[in-house]
Amino acid sequence: MTYEQDPTKRHVHYALTELADECRHMTMFGRLIEALGERPYKQGFVLHNLGRVLPLVLRGPSVWVAALIGEEIFDSIQRATMHDERLQPLVRQVMSIHVIEEARHIRYAREDTVRRLERSPWWVRELSRLVVGAGALLLQTVLARPEMYKRAGLDVREARKAARTNAHARQFRAEGFERLRSFLAEQGLIGGPTRVFWHLAHVHPDGTEVRLLGPST
Ligand SMILES: [Fe+2]
Ligand SMILES: [Fe+2]
Repeated sequence: MTYEQDPTKRHVHYALTELADECRHMTMFGRLIEALGERPYKQGFVLHNLGRVLPLVLRGPSVWVAALIGEEIFDSIQRATMHDERLQPLVRQVMSIHVIEEARHIRYAREDTVRRLERSPWWVRELSRLVVGAGALLLQTVLARPEMYKRAGLDVREARKAARTNAHARQFRAEGFERLRSFLAEQGLIGGPTRVFWHLAHVHPDGTEVRLLGPST
């Protein structure tokens, strides 16, 4: 896209900077996994191909809300854990570098979401609501992978059940979602039938944590 645009424009400079940042982040996380003697987790068929298709179908504010779901939730969790002294210093360092550099991506994505929504028709707003609600649900799924319990030597079924019903884990996630949830609510991006996605993701669309719903699939 940048190929078609004026290389003197600040928006183009920003797009190139963010691309460069993300290239370095992939390298940084790849090196971290290697340094820890681990292997990355592979996505399943559906998620892997969703990652291929989404960039082709998302347009306008939906692009940014999808990016915010991906970036802000991890950012909140990284902020909450990067000072934890039980973590290896290398992991903490990588997290703090990522938090610092993501701050400008998040700010830009939020500002451009507001700008684009102002001049979008109603159906674009509805599509953005759908993307962000489905994204929230998806993210809750990918935050805990069965494989991670297996590698830790735990019984996968038991560990997943314990995690789903763990009030502390649920509260921690609800807090991780809160900063983004309140921004989206201010922009009118949480509402209508898509509220059901937020409930299914165990995040109350109005900002209080959903009561424990018991094990779900
Ligand atoms: Fe990143
Ligand atoms: Fe980013």
